[in-house]
Amino acid sequence: MIYASNFKTNNTRAYTKEYLKTLNEFMGKNGIKDEIYIFPTSTSLDTFKNISLNITIGAQNAYPAKNGSYTGEIGLEQLDEFGIKTILIGHSERREILKESQEFIAEKFNFFKEQGFRIIYCIGETKETRDMGKTMEYLWSEFDGIDLEYKELIVAYEPIWAIGTGVSAKKEDIDEVLSALRAKVKNPLLYGGSVKDTNIKEILSIKECDGVLIGSASWKVENFCKIIKNGQKG
Ligand code: PGA
Repeated sequence: MIYASNFKTNNTRAYTKEYLKTLNEFMGKNGIKDEIYIFPTSTSLDTFKNISLNITIGAQNAYPAKNGSYTGEIGLEQLDEFGIKTILIGHSERREILKESQEFIAEKFNFFKEQGFRIIYCIGETKETRDMGKTMEYLWSEFDGIDLEYKELIVAYEPIWAIGTGVSAKKEDIDEVLSALRAKVKNPLLYGGSVKDTNIKEILSIKECDGVLIGSASWKVENFCKIIKNGQKG
């Protein structure tokens, strides 16, 4: 299974270091073999040489350029310094708050695809879209310009109304969407939106679910470890 933690604008550089040390020890002690991804803030990126090979550090965002004049952004050169080869693209907070258009998101996708990055590509509908019965139509539109055959692609389905609300989507709804996505996406499919230690088991039991992308419930390392522990089979 895949367990990904998106720190968003949380945790310091010092705590990120401590977080990874604790997580690494937890994984070793409990023989955890799952694929773990951590997306710290860009100021907390580092090489983290002493962590297990199944923990991958990714960038929450970067500008689709090697370097240049893009005030406030980081580019490929800054990611290369730390050997970062994984990136989140299309998160709803970047679409909604940072006003990233589908066209720009596709440009980012193509740039990082050219660089061979593993891309966790996020999609998700608003409550209004769901209430209008247009969820799938909307989700397909979020794939405009995106190569679904790309071998390093991971898709994260994150209904916007379930993000940070404490209320995850219902199992049947996640199941329905992931099954529909499976028709076009052969690569791993994740669910995100209020995943926590108490619902992880149920979410991972969904047929087409290959893992989770977690925000708030993963920002403290002990909580993230508990989620991973509760997600183990048996
Ligand atoms: P959440 O966020 O777990 O706090 O709902 C999920 C996400 O935005 O990736």
